[in-house]
Amino acid sequence: MDKKEIKILITEEEIQHKIKELADKLNAKYKGEKVYLICVLKGAVMFAVDLAKRLNIPLSMEFIRLSSYGSAMASSGLVNAVDISLPNLNDKNVIIVEDIVDTGLTAKFLMDFINANFKTKSTVFCSLLDKKSTRKVDIEPDYYCFDVDDKFIVGYGLDLDQQYRNLPYLGYIE
Ligand code: IMP
Ligand code: MG
Repeated sequence: MDKKEIKILITEEEIQHKIKELADKLNAKYKGEKVYLICVLKGAVMFAVDLAKRLNIPLSMEFIRLSSYGSAMASSGLVNAVDISLPNLNDKNVIIVEDIVDTGLTAKFLMDFINANFKTKSTVFCSLLDKKSTRKVDIEPDYYCFDVDDKFIVGYGLDLDQQYRNLPYLGYIE
């Protein structure tokens, strides 16, 4: 694969600052309560780990893996549940942690999946990025860190063909 030029969009410092602000909100909201944080692999891995480190509530971390079919830079609209095994979440506080809400189909799939299988105490959807302009279904994350334009974002967990997830910042490909 040829080397693409990545433009920095959001720096490592900006990401960490926003995550701290989000963690402060979540620590206040769930004070003293146990929470199940569900990290949606692979894209949300960096965000979920950095967020979890700043949460000072009793926390279980779960990992599920989804993939969407389609070309590298366009969402196909089909969600493939590669591994969605979860403990019993009845009566639990659940935070779903995603990298980006783009068409919204993945977020909708996950919220529907949780609601169909469990009667949780609470469920919130928390995304690092919100790409509002490309939404196909009517869904908004309960919490997000940054709005982004319709650009293809990589870094800090997000990939292009499995590359660039390790960048500590968020960038875009022209
Ligand atoms: P959805 O279109 O909201 O269902 O998003 C599906 C998935 O596509 C997200 O969870 C991301 O993993 C991926 N995705 C969407 N937009 C981007 C992007 O700009 N860069 C990298 N991955 C993306
Ligand atoms: Mg994702």
